[in-house]
Amino acid sequence: AYNLKGRNFLTLKDFSKVEIDYLLTLAEDLKAKKRAGIKGDCLAGKNIALIFEKPSTRTRCAFAVAAKDEGGMPEYLGKNDIQLGKKETVADTARVLGRMFDGIEFRGYAHKTVEILGEYAGVPVWNGLTDLYHPTQILADFLILKENFGQLEGLNLVYAGDGRNNMANSLMIGSAIIGVNYTIVAPEELWPEESLFKECRELGQESGSEINLTSEINKGVKAADAIYTDVWVSMGEESQFEKRIKLLTPYQVNMEMLKMTENPDVIFLHCLPAYHNIETENAKKIYEKFGLEEMEVTEEVFESNYSKVFDQAENRMHTIKAVMTATL
Ligand code: CP
Ligand code: NVA
Repeated sequence: AYNLKGRNFLTLKDFSKVEIDYLLTLAEDLKAKKRAGIKGDCLAGKNIALIFEKPSTRTRCAFAVAAKDEGGMPEYLGKNDIQLGKKETVADTARVLGRMFDGIEFRGYAHKTVEILGEYAGVPVWNGLTDLYHPTQILADFLILKENFGQLEGLNLVYAGDGRNNMANSLMIGSAIIGVNYTIVAPEELWPEESLFKECRELGQESGSEINLTSEINKGVKAADAIYTDVWVSMGEESQFEKRIKLLTPYQVNMEMLKMTENPDVIFLHCLPAYHNIETENAKKIYEKFGLEEMEVTEEVFESNYSKVFDQAENRMHTIKAVMTATL
């Protein structure tokens, strides 16, 4: 086994290919154990702080349930519960929490905040999503790819949509490290930062991963084994709706797009939450305001057999459990 004890997980760049492979294998073991109804004690006596500046269903619950399953104690610290960055510096909060907790999860806006926590806490800090990255999500995504296709190396993962957000960035980094071919299909305005793209291309040379950007849908999705999308407007960017809808409407994941792919076993993935129908309060407001019917994915695709989004969501728990047990 690999010794990841004491390590932070702020971006996927914190781990090597063999370490990520090890985390995925560990997650498979933990998943089998959970399915068999076996409770573990890998986190016995461990106290886990969960800091959330932004809302969350999957990430929060994955950390809480994973900690409990293995005998640990999770404590939720919402944005109005603590003084983080308001009345107390992030560095001070980090040093205090580090005296009491064995590990700290952070979800929020600035990536800098999780870096400061990681620098000052003295205990492992895990990134549960920042404006730039969402690394724990990618472990769940790679586990679902592994479960569906047997192996990761050489798979073609296509991401259609906002190519500059935390998901697009983290999928690109993870793919480059692991050896998954990754194509972002998006309008040029929404291609990733040039520097990150270049860095990932270099990483990809070691692993055999090809990283590509294109605005041409047909060309981009043809070889896809999996098509991934995310919301067009991420948390904190709500003022961007009109612009994004204009740019991204052609890039909606619909049956027409799935039919452009050559692999009959192509799967659809989404980190969730998703706008795929008009049932939610927010969707209703946006759809009415902009005269839309659907956004990043159609209801037809979301509810089809191609869609693995709920298996994917379950994997958040098993993979986050692997990260906590390995680093603690
Ligand atoms: N995918 C994901 O991170 O979901 P939550 O925002 O619900 O945690
Ligand atoms: N890009 C999305 C991901 C949510 C899990 C956001 O940051 O809101």
